[in-house]
Amino acid sequence: MDDTDFPAEFDRVLFTEKQIAARVKELAAQVDEDYAGEDLLLVGVLKGAMMIMADLSRELKTPAEIDWMAVSSYGSGVTSSGVVRILKDLDISIEGRNVLIVEDVLDSGLTLRWLVRSLQARQPKTLRLLTLLRKPEAVRNQLDVAYVGFDIDNEFVVGYGMDHNEKFRNMGNIGVLNS
Ligand code: PRP
Repeated sequence: MDDTDFPAEFDRVLFTEKQIAARVKELAAQVDEDYAGEDLLLVGVLKGAMMIMADLSRELKTPAEIDWMAVSSYGSGVTSSGVVRILKDLDISIEGRNVLIVEDVLDSGLTLRWLVRSLQARQPKTLRLLTLLRKPEAVRNQLDVAYVGFDIDNEFVVGYGMDHNEKFRNMGNIGVLNS
């Protein structure tokens, strides 16, 4: 798919593949600078983080291990309730490790607030968050995020790992759905 093409369900493209790739490169450079010579474990939150994890990890010069969690928030399914259930836990112990959680989008930030608390209890050496996209409510909820790709408006975004009813995850662009 060309950078400017998008399906009929899209209102518009918010970020093209090229814009995303350029920003991911910048984020990777920041992470490399901060973790130079350090141990690094990337923790992705399934499924949305698949693309940002694949691209970010390949841009990093710092050797990194990768592990995954799957979580589900109880609630309506449209907005997070902040009460989270672990569907798939980490395979690797994070005790004493430098952990960087990698996310596609922070909406309310409640899932990640819960996840940070939960992982902090496992005594990592450091625990930080990276998200490609951040919506205003996550800013209002004062979630501490070390690396943010783009701050965006409160719109329903899909593509680049993000879905609507499991569709659009395999698109390279990020788009806003027709309302
Ligand atoms: C999205 C996203 C975050 C969470 C953010 O995942 O990947 O994990 O929602 O929401 P919050 O900031 O309001 O807590 P989703 O539940 O859509 O699952 P998916 O990654 O499998 O698509």
